[in-house]
Amino acid sequence: MKTVKVGLIGFGTIGCGMVKILQDNQSQIQSRLGAVLEVIKIADLDITTDRGVKVDAGMLTTDAKEVLDHPDIDIVVELIGGYEPARSFILQAIENKKHVVTANKALLAKHGDEVFAAAEKNHIAVGFEASVGGAIPIIRSIKEAFVANRIQAIEGIVNGTANYVLSKMSDGNHDFETALKEAQDKGYAEADPTFDIEGIDSAHKIAVLTRLAYGTPVNLDDIYVQGISSISSLDIKCAHEFGYRIKLLAISKFDGRAIDVRVHPAMIPESKPMANVNGVLNAIMVCGDMMEENILIGHGAGSLPTGSAVVGDIVEIARNILSGAQDRVPPQSYQTAGIQRIPLKDIAEIEGEYFLRFWVLDKPGVLSRISGILGNHDISIEAVIQRVKDDNGKGVPLVMMTHQAREKNIQAALKEIDGIEDVCEKTVLIRVEK
Ligand code: HSE
Repeated sequence: MKTVKVGLIGFGTIGCGMVKILQDNQSQIQSRLGAVLEVIKIADLDITTDRGVKVDAGMLTTDAKEVLDHPDIDIVVELIGGYEPARSFILQAIENKKHVVTANKALLAKHGDEVFAAAEKNHIAVGFEASVGGAIPIIRSIKEAFVANRIQAIEGIVNGTANYVLSKMSDGNHDFETALKEAQDKGYAEADPTFDIEGIDSAHKIAVLTRLAYGTPVNLDDIYVQGISSISSLDIKCAHEFGYRIKLLAISKFDGRAIDVRVHPAMIPESKPMANVNGVLNAIMVCGDMMEENILIGHGAGSLPTGSAVVGDIVEIARNILSGAQDRVPPQSYQTAGIQRIPLKDIAEIEGEYFLRFWVLDKPGVLSRISGILGNHDISIEAVIQRVKDDNGKGVPLVMMTHQAREKNIQAALKEIDGIEDVCEKTVLIRVEK
């Protein structure tokens, strides 16, 4: 039986998952592939800590070059994350004619043009299924299963940590910090968990998906990003009262002229499947002109689910090596000639319904001033809640849902409202996604 040889750089949470899967499911994978997958070298700065996965000591090295330059390695798996040295390692692997598998969404979002150009020039495969949605086969679905469609929209919960935190806060059992600590302990969070909480990780992932869906590079800095750190248990409770759940959504919609790409907390009607995707689960909805809406749901983070996506990529590349069918699917989903830069829409151009949570002194005239300003900006109010009777001089929450309004008008109105003396805090705005 033929053997395809694999080298791993980064023996952390996902790396361990990958090695464990290749060990535990070896015979199952072998009988599907018709060949042996053998990990022959693993590089990590720490090769002494016991990770609970048994590997031959001679396989371990602290020098990534031993993987990159190894003459027998066919596939290099990069699982260290971050921009550098991951970028240099991947480019070196490609230069050395080794196929690459990575889970590194940050790198692909920022340096995708460079990595894909190098891969195409050298006829090298780059597998990155694990970069978005953990075990969910979203990359392969866009590249292959949905290829008949002009994709019109992608909308998803693509950060397990943020979803875990919001779900736990929503259950009423945890505050923000406790839930985040749990997600970190379970190995879901990024090395810097602000990437999860502030929406940066979701922005990386929606940049990767946007490239594949519409065949366009995306400038990361042009994506509107707002995280969940301003969301309080009170907002979650009020959302429930209005019949909604709050989720951190990554959105990418193409109207044929420009793409609306953004990441922010969103209110979703609780009757929608996406509103009921909880814990570390991710969900990604893809809408295509021929297939309408498809939702994929699965484990979005964690050692084994993400390791399973990595192994899936290794097997796919191994199949291509064995059958001599390299370049079968272009890594960016489109042929190079089909890739064009599509402009991104400014957030000010969008329209929708809004949840607004003001914190105001409970005095006569405050509500009418706020609603007057909203009215002046062409914003109509659909519902209002103010339950607390005594403000003890510290202010009370005043919550409103608007009818359809223009973001530009909402922003202008909030600027004015937040300048009123009786408004104690910056107003929290949550967009409604129906
Ligand atoms: N930190 C990421 C998450 C891991 O929580 O979803 C998967 O990319």
